[in-house]
Amino acid sequence: MRLAVIPGDGIGPEVVTEALKVLGEVVPAAEVTRYDLGASRWHATGELLPESVLGELREHDAILLGAVGDPTVPSGILERGLLLRLRFELDHHVNLRPARLYPGVRSSLAEPGEIDMVVVREGTEGLYAGNGGLVRKDTPNEIATEVSVNTAFGVDRVVRDAFRRASERPRRHLTLVHKTNVLTHAGSLWSRVVEEVSLQHPEVTVAYQHVDATTIHMVTDPARFDVIVTDNLFGDILTDLAAAVTGGIGLAASGNLDVTGRNPSMFEPVHGSAPDIAGQGLADPTATVLSVALLLDHLGKHEAAKRIEASVAFDLATRDHSAPGATHAIGDRLAALVSSNTRTA
Ligand code: NAD
Ligand code: IPM
Ligand code: MN
Repeated sequence: MRLAVIPGDGIGPEVVTEALKVLGEVVPAAEVTRYDLGASRWHATGELLPESVLGELREHDAILLGAVGDPTVPSGILERGLLLRLRFELDHHVNLRPARLYPGVRSSLAEPGEIDMVVVREGTEGLYAGNGGLVRKDTPNEIATEVSVNTAFGVDRVVRDAFRRASERPRRHLTLVHKTNVLTHAGSLWSRVVEEVSLQHPEVTVAYQHVDATTIHMVTDPARFDVIVTDNLFGDILTDLAAAVTGGIGLAASGNLDVTGRNPSMFEPVHGSAPDIAGQGLADPTATVLSVALLLDHLGKHEAAKRIEASVAFDLATRDHSAPGATHAIGDRLAALVSSNTRTA
C-alpha cells in the first residue's frame, strides 16, 4: 500500500503522527511518503501545490491529510490553493462524512437518541467552484458574486452514490437536503435527479428537507437521519453540526472519494488546523484515526478498518471524557488497543 501523507498546518501534523502510529499496527508494510505542503512551504517558497508534487500524489493508493490553514496566511490561499485544488484535481466528487454517537460518548444534546448517519456531500461543485468575482472593487459600488455550479453529471453521480450507500444500510433511508424554495434552479435539478434515481432504488425511502429546517432536526431529533445527500456548502456546514451532536469535532472523520478509482481518494478529519490549540498536545487525534479506518475500508482492507473502529469504540466507551489525555497519549492508547486486537484477531 502506497500512502501519501500531507500533515499540513496547526494540529495537522500532531494528529497525523498518532494516526500513522495506529496504521503501523494494522498495516506495518504500508509505504508512507510525507509531503511538506502548507503554510511553511508557502512562506518559504510561495508554492502551494507544485505540478510535480500533484503528479507524485497521483501515483499513490490513497492520501492522508491532517489539516490546512494558518493565521499567518491570508484566508483562502491554502484552503483554495491546496485543499480544494487537491479535491478538484483528483475529482473527489463524493465527500463522505459519517456521524455516529458511539456508546459512552456524551452528546451536546440532553436526549440525543441513537445517532448514526452519513452525510454524502458533493465535493467538486456548488459554491466551491470558484465561479464569481468582484467588480468596482474598493468603491461604494463594489459587487461580489459567488455562483453555485450544479451540473447534471455532478449531481447524478453523487446522488447515485448516496442511494447505493443508503441501500446497503439497515434503515435504507435517504434525505435530500437543499433550499429548493429559494434556490429554484439548482433545487429543481437536485430534486429531479433524486426522483429519477429513486426509481431504480424502490428499497430506499426518500425524504426532502430544507437546509434551515435540517439544522433544527439535527439538534432536536438527529436520530431520524440515515443518509443525507446534499451540495458542497450545505454539507460543509451540516457536518460540523453533526460532529457537534455526536461528541465533538475531534471525533469526526471524512473521505474525499473519487468513486471511479481513477484518482487516489483523500482522507482527513472534518476539523481544521485549530490554531487556538496547536502545539499544546490538546488535539484529539481520534477523527484522524477514524479517517484511516475509512481509508482502509476504501482500499478493501475491511478487516483492518474494523479493527481500528473497534479499538476506537472501546476507547470511547472506557475513556474519561473530562480528561481524555494528551494527543500522543490518546494515540498510544489506540495503537496499543489495535495491536492487541490484531494479535487476537
Ligand atoms: P477548526 O476545525 O480548526 O476549529 C474549530 C474548533 O474546534 C476550535 O475551537 C478547535 O480548537 C476545535 N478543534 C478542532 N479540531 C480539534 C481536535 N482534533 N481536538 C480538539 N478540538 C479541536 O476550524 P476553524 O477554527 O474554523 O479553522 C481554523 C483553520 O483551519 C482555518 O484556516 C480554516 O480555513 C482551516 N480549516 C481547514 C480544514 C481542512 O483542512 N480540512 C477544515 C476546516 C477548517
Ligand atoms: C472542510 C473545510 C473545508 C471545506 C475548507 C477548509 C476549504 O471546512 O473540509 O470541512 O469547506 O470543505
Ligand atoms: Mn468544514
